[in-house]
Amino acid sequence: MACPFKGLTDITRRNFFTAAGGVGLAAVAGAGLGFGLGPAARLFERNPRGAEKFYGAHQAGIVTPQQSHSYFAAFDLTTDKRDEVVSLLKDWTEAAAQMTQGKSVAGDGGDARGLLPSRLTATFGFGAGLFSKDGSDRYGLAARRPATFVDLPKFAGDQLIMEKSGGDLSVQACANDPQVAFHAIRQFARIAGERAHIRWAQTGFLSGGNDGETPRNLMGFKDGTQQPKDHDKFVWVGNEGPDWMQGGTYLVARRIRIALEHWDSMDVAAQEEIIGRKKISGAPLTGRNEFDALDLNATDKDGNYIIPENAHVRLGNAAANGGAEILRRGYSYNDGVNFIAERWPPWRQRIEYDAGLHFISYQRDPKTFIKMFDRMAKQDALNQFTTHNGSAIFACPGGARAGEFIGQRLFV
Ligand code: HEM
Repeated sequence: MACPFKGLTDITRRNFFTAAGGVGLAAVAGAGLGFGLGPAARLFERNPRGAEKFYGAHQAGIVTPQQSHSYFAAFDLTTDKRDEVVSLLKDWTEAAAQMTQGKSVAGDGGDARGLLPSRLTATFGFGAGLFSKDGSDRYGLAARRPATFVDLPKFAGDQLIMEKSGGDLSVQACANDPQVAFHAIRQFARIAGERAHIRWAQTGFLSGGNDGETPRNLMGFKDGTQQPKDHDKFVWVGNEGPDWMQGGTYLVARRIRIALEHWDSMDVAAQEEIIGRKKISGAPLTGRNEFDALDLNATDKDGNYIIPENAHVRLGNAAANGGAEILRRGYSYNDGVNFIAERWPPWRQRIEYDAGLHFISYQRDPKTFIKMFDRMAKQDALNQFTTHNGSAIFACPGGARAGEFIGQRLFV
């Protein structure tokens, strides 16, 4: 019998069943019996174990539909030789091109045997330290730093931990299998050797988005409903940027701990006022369905805004930001528990969850994020529950074309 699933004809039977997984098998049975396509079948049709293209005008993993798992690593460059930076980027590009297609890389010990590509993407970014560090122009690139690529300022409420912030280079591996993502990062770190060392890393996951629905974050709200549709306008750097950044974008990462103990003690109506959307449907407080537009002017009988002035979505909405939009592609994180000193009365000090959101946004110009978040950091009702303790900004160059390495045009 011909395999009814495109792209799966070349895998072994054993892998076929791995690929199908529990829900996928239901789809196979359904297809055989002529049932209509349910959510499980749609999941399978998208081939969650298939491969994403690596080469192209843009790096993959930015506007690519989100995979279920992320492993983000920031590296410090430990070499002072420009040639070694170039050779590192060449080696990483080659390894990424192989691994995203489900192939092993030399020296990986066969650790990924039996693991399918699982839509692995590897997205690379350049931190300020690539251009100059501690006043030193290590690689002769200081003059090539785009003026647009500014440092992030200190925002109200920031409690940044330097060991979880910054970095000279970033690599984010996203995949529908956490081990595939981790395997990729382990290879990048091994290949880097003495040229670069991991500075910080963050794992993340998405839940509830499997059947094509918007995923839910740890607060139980759909997260990712409102996103920019015009990527050329809001995400990709155009000819205002240097050659190597065209088709690229700026990445902001914020490690945001959420005080879930506090959140879990709130009633749902209060939670909905804080976000500005309904919890179950994801609809705006002024609408019925998830994708209804926000009505920021609607008021109740007492003249109060239905979407409160300090609601998260009001502060993030394009209409409240002069039309500006950012692409959010964050992942929930869960790092167990930690000793925490609370920021709210009665200021308890005890073991609490170290869990929240590894917020990642992409924008054509970092100033868009800075302007939007500066106001949020001062006014957002969500701030009672969130603490930003990690922060980084990276310039993600345009994609590599076959035969090129990532960021090549910066080094010519
Ligand atoms: C733990 C922290 C955060 C949580 C839990 C959170 C959660 C949410 C939720 C539930 C929504 C509504 C659904 C949606 O449209 O996706 C939303 C929207 C949004 N958030 Fe956040 N968010 C967080 C941090 C941030 C940060 C740091 C920014 C930075 C500027 C941001 C920017 C936005 C924007 C632009 C929207 C869309 C607003 C609109 O146009 O309706 N969020 N967020």
